[in-house]
Amino acid sequence: MGEMAPPGLGDPAAPPEALDGKDRGRSPSPYPPRDGSLRTRVASAGEDRTALSRPMTPPIHQSSVYAFRDPAQADRRYAAGGAVYARDGLPNARALERAVADLEGAEDAHAVASGMGAIALTLLAHLSGGDHVVASAACYCETQALLTRELSRFGVASTLVDLDDPFAFAAAFTPRTRIVIAETIANPGMNVADLPRLSEVAHAAGALLLVDNTFATPILCRPLDHGADLVVHSASKFLGGHHDLVAGVVAGRDAEIGQIRRAGHLFGPTLGALDAWLALRGIKTLAPRVAWMSESAARIAAMLAGHPAVRAVRYPGLPGPDPARAALVRRLLPDGAGAMLAFELAAGPDAADALLRALQLIAFAPSLGGTTTTACYPPRFSPWDDAAPETVWSGSATIRLSVGLESAPDLIADLKQGLDLILDEHWDHRAAGSHARPGQEGFYQI
Ligand SMILES: Cc1ncc(COP(=O)(O)O)c(C=O)c1O
Repeated sequence: MGEMAPPGLGDPAAPPEALDGKDRGRSPSPYPPRDGSLRTRVASAGEDRTALSRPMTPPIHQSSVYAFRDPAQADRRYAAGGAVYARDGLPNARALERAVADLEGAEDAHAVASGMGAIALTLLAHLSGGDHVVASAACYCETQALLTRELSRFGVASTLVDLDDPFAFAAAFTPRTRIVIAETIANPGMNVADLPRLSEVAHAAGALLLVDNTFATPILCRPLDHGADLVVHSASKFLGGHHDLVAGVVAGRDAEIGQIRRAGHLFGPTLGALDAWLALRGIKTLAPRVAWMSESAARIAAMLAGHPAVRAVRYPGLPGPDPARAALVRRLLPDGAGAMLAFELAAGPDAADALLRALQLIAFAPSLGGTTTTACYPPRFSPWDDAAPETVWSGSATIRLSVGLESAPDLIADLKQGLDLILDEHWDHRAAGSHARPGQEGFYQI
């Protein structure tokens, strides 16, 4: 791709024949067609098909800076959005951005060094002192801490609110509310956000709706289709999918992403070439991974809901007593309710500890979205923050499960042997024999 390529399309390392061959005019779009099915586009995510010959796997451009014939050439390359210096964007990160923008139905995306980096940069780029944020009280604890502990120091106020309570949500707005933050499926409560309603209220107040889509992934839900303005991912989780990278991406309209990209050049949370390459490789298998994991998670949730050691299961795909909520889940998550679930043990936190120790196949690990199933306590507070308040999850008997690619019967057997073991021990299983059933109190379908 030459220097005069349209902004963002330039791969400075592409061979010269990419410019010259007779095929040059054949395809107006250098990328897999956007109208192809999502599965097809995922499989070839980020590929640039303009070159006559191209590596089937993109090279890793592990160079922090490019050399030019003269300063004018560098200026032209820079103006065209091509690679010059790593902090301003490099080809592997750009390919990842294109892929996520495509999958989320966004005009553009910006990739950074972590999911928290993507959230923080988005807020820093779009907020000023005196502004106000309305955020889900159910969202990831570090996102909450970012607002209450860090951005508050710069005069950004925030209100954490129960998004399921329309009155409380509407009442949380102030004349300076600029951004509303929600998670499609909340970490760790698994609440599904009513994105169409949230966007309507946010837009009426002149605010942007920023949705963290890490748990759902664009395979199950595309928040921009439901009224969101910006969608953010911890690509360290399902997009990357192998527990081997840390990255974050934010996608949305050109104008808002441009503002974020410009701020990123100054704040500098640059995504390294290798992590960008790994994230893009992970995305190519996202569709089958998510479909498989989601199906297994539904089977595991059903097993847990029927086990006498379990007091409550939080999984959006479980049947529940509220028809409006069930309709929302069908509307937002028509192809599956995801790989994440949480369940609470009837016998309390010590039993949760014992279960985590008893699991043979499922690893205790405080992350999610990889090929192997991981269990952990819900994130309760920022581990680095001594002054962090206790949350609703502190001292609870809830375990969060990220379902992987193992066979569902093997995972069910592992969980069952652990649950049976704690049932046999000395804890007080007050719920035993009368554990909650779908539609009853204590059995969550959120
Ligand atoms: C929903 C959600 N958003 C954002 C993040 C932050 O991502 P990262 O660890 O890549 O910074 C996490 C991390 O667990 C998460 O679960």
